[in-house]
Amino acid sequence: MTDHNGQRVSEKDFAGSYKLIYFGFTYCPAICPTELQKITRVMKALPEEAAAKIQPLFITVDPERDTVPVMKDYVSLFDPRLIGLTGSRDDIDRTLDAYRIFATKVQEEGAEDYTMDHSSFIYLMSPDDRLISIYRIQDDAEMMRADILKILGVDS
Ligand code: NI
Repeated sequence: MTDHNGQRVSEKDFAGSYKLIYFGFTYCPAICPTELQKITRVMKALPEEAAAKIQPLFITVDPERDTVPVMKDYVSLFDPRLIGLTGSRDDIDRTLDAYRIFATKVQEEGAEDYTMDHSSFIYLMSPDDRLISIYRIQDDAEMMRADILKILGVDS
């Protein structure tokens, strides 16, 4: 995949870090920005010692529109540590399959642009890429922060 600065990246680039991963798309009107704001709040609320161990990632489910420059603009709205990832349709589809993410284009009648129906979970992965936690829309930043501190063994 390609990050929001146009660098090719693979899992190896994030080896050794915990990862908070969210899948969505930049044109999403509501849920995606809310969830990325939540990740931003969690990163800011964590003690530096804990935040330093976590790499937040936003992976687009809509690579046709979410090009590198679009991703760069968009991630600048959130935590400065957030990395946006895009790629070819095949790259993205392989990743979506690996995480069992559902995402499909929806063309509403009369609308000029399509939208995407997609799953909305935040995944916490271990440094060796095991799934540790899945956070849902109803899980708030405080719950996530407490859970992450417990997992990392860091006192708040
Ligand atoms: Ni969305």
